[in-house]
Amino acid sequence: MRDSKRDTIDTSTTSWVDVYRRLTEVVIPRPIALVATVDPDGIANVAPFSFFTVVSSNPPFIAFAPHRMGRTGTKKDTLRNVEAVGEFTVSVVTEEIAERVNACAAPLPYGDSEFEHSGLTPVAAERVKAPLVAESPVGLECMLEEIRVYGDEGGAGSLVVGRVVLMHLEAAVRDPADGRVVHEQLRAVGRMGGSLWCRTLDTFPLKRPS
Ligand SMILES: Cc1cc2nc3c(=O)[nH]c(=O)nc-3n(C[C@H](O)[C@H](O)[C@H](O)COP(=O)(O)O)c2cc1C
Repeated sequence: MRDSKRDTIDTSTTSWVDVYRRLTEVVIPRPIALVATVDPDGIANVAPFSFFTVVSSNPPFIAFAPHRMGRTGTKKDTLRNVEAVGEFTVSVVTEEIAERVNACAAPLPYGDSEFEHSGLTPVAAERVKAPLVAESPVGLECMLEEIRVYGDEGGAGSLVVGRVVLMHLEAAVRDPADGRVVHEQLRAVGRMGGSLWCRTLDTFPLKRPS
C-alpha cells in the first residue's frame, strides 16, 4: 500500500456525474469503437464508444456500452438502431480520423446521419446491414448477441454484446510475414479522462512468466 493520504468516494452518496468523471479518469486508456448502425429504414448512423472491449475469443464476442443521455435519460441512436436491427459494425479509430470521429459525437436528431456531418464515408458490409467506415483500416462486422440494461435514467449504461462474424484488416497495417497487425502502422488512438485522447506508440515489452 502506498502511504500517501487517500480520498474515498462512496458512490451511493456522490452524484453520478462525478462518479462518471472519476471512473473515466482512472479506467484508462480506453480503446474507442466507432460503431455504425442503420435504422429500420436503412439510414446509417455512426458514433464513438470508449466503453468497449473484447469479451470472448472463442466464440468471438465484443461489447460496448452506450449510456442513456445525461440530461434527458433518452436512448442514444446507436442503441435504438441495434435494438431494432440487431447488427452493427465496429471500426478502429486511428490518429488520421480522430477529429472526424470526434465530430460524430455531436448530438444530431434521430435519422440525421453523422456520416455526412463528419466527412467519413460509409461502405457496404458483407454480412450485416450496417456499413463499414472507408477511412478506418480495421472493420468488424457484428451480429447482436445480447443487451444487458443497467437502468433507464441519465448515465445508465446498456452493455451491447455482439458476435464478430467478419474481420476486415487492411493489408498495409499487417506484417506480411506472420499476418499480425503492427501497431505502429495501425496508429490507433484511445480515450483518457475529460477531453483527452491518447496515441498507442509508447509501448514497452514484458515477457509473460512461464
Ligand atoms: C471518444 C469518444 C468516446 C465516447 N464513448 C462513449 C461511450 O462509451 N458511451 C456513451 O454512451 N457515449 C460515448 N461517447 C459519446 C457518444 O459518442 C455521443 O453521445 C454520440 O452522440 C452518440 O451517438 P448516437 O446518438 O448516434 O448513438 C463518446 C464520445 C467520444 C468522442
